[in-house]
Amino acid sequence: MNIVVTGAQWGDEGKGKIVDFLAADASVIVRFSGGANAGHTIVLGGDRYALHLVPSGILYPDKIVILGSGMVIDPEALFSELAGLEKKGIDWLGRVLISDRAHLVLPSYRRVDKELEQKRARPIGTTGRGIGVAYAMKAYRDGIRIADLMDEDRLVNLEAEDRAFVEAWRDRLSPMSVDLVAYLRSHRNAYTLFEGAQGALLDIDTGTYPFVSSGMSCSAGAAAQGGIGPRRIDRVLGVFKAYSTRVGNGPFPTEFADDSPGSLSSYIRDTGNEYGVTTGRPRRCGYLDLVALRYAVAANSIDRLVLTHLDVYDELAEFEACIAYRIRGRLVEDFPTSIRDLEDAEPVLRKFSGWKESIAACTSFDELPRKARDYVAFIEEYVETPITVVSVGSDRGQTIVRESPWTRS
Ligand code: IMP
Repeated sequence: MNIVVTGAQWGDEGKGKIVDFLAADASVIVRFSGGANAGHTIVLGGDRYALHLVPSGILYPDKIVILGSGMVIDPEALFSELAGLEKKGIDWLGRVLISDRAHLVLPSYRRVDKELEQKRARPIGTTGRGIGVAYAMKAYRDGIRIADLMDEDRLVNLEAEDRAFVEAWRDRLSPMSVDLVAYLRSHRNAYTLFEGAQGALLDIDTGTYPFVSSGMSCSAGAAAQGGIGPRRIDRVLGVFKAYSTRVGNGPFPTEFADDSPGSLSSYIRDTGNEYGVTTGRPRRCGYLDLVALRYAVAANSIDRLVLTHLDVYDELAEFEACIAYRIRGRLVEDFPTSIRDLEDAEPVLRKFSGWKESIAACTSFDELPRKARDYVAFIEEYVETPITVVSVGSDRGQTIVRESPWTRS
């Protein structure tokens, strides 16, 4: 069975935790897009693991994790991450494979990424990791894939610095290389998880372009770049938070206007630990945007939702969620494409009463306070999609499963 886990907002929805949780029942985990711009956090027995390139199944000793064809890989970042895991006692040798179709991020890409960003009248707020340049070089047909590492014809046009970089890393990368399509064909009966990075609204096609990342972070990315085709996907899980966050620039209709100390915005940021795993940047915060979520569900054919960070609302007496936009006086219920429309969108908010108690120890949906269940039910009805997993804390165990995602429907 094949499950795709995709972010249904602007990234940072808690995909790392959910992939780690679901990986207990998988044997192969394939990350299909993005690069070291991503930051996936997993908390296990009080230890916190920050992953950027390595798929989130790595913490189990017996899982194979594969960096997929849609990824752009900076070997320096990869091997420093692997060394960090090794220090924490994680044995990765032989378990971390890289699709031979994945592309490299070279030193000049990182430099150009920063230069381009400096020249933009309206910067995107990139992570500066060379991601956009790597995808652009791929589209130009000048990128270097893992399969090209030993092919002198492919390397001949590289700048000296990039060439030296490739030569320095290729002996370590090559043994990890795998033909992903052939691997998954021969493991077609394995339970496989396809892990997305970023989120639907940061996808190059479905996101808030140009304020997006450059990879395919929508669920279709798993089919194009995960080594399988669309008909092999059995389930698309969309992960979203009880509220919204965004890091970097770009439109964010429900963003809180007041971000001063003591404001709701800073309360949510601190309670939810909303600081970038990769850059440390404070994330912008706002109420849940159901217009955006419904769009993400449709654009990704999400058939089950996973709600995370519900516990962040534990102490609030009341909160709101956005059910429509008012754009220059017009009521809009579909997520607009135009950046100007999104920037002019004023959220139409619906109030909810808070539950004012800790849900961190709840282990079943019925144990959740009535008001928390009401919030869940409202979201399900609005987006016409069941929420089958609810996360009530950062630890692997703090996960309520109403229906196992591995159950075929
Ligand atoms: P880039 O991916 O570094 O080119 O950055 C493009 C945009 O995507 C910026 O707004 C980043 O902050 C955002 N971004 C990239 N990766 C992530 C992620 O993993 N989580 C959230 N935002 C991200």
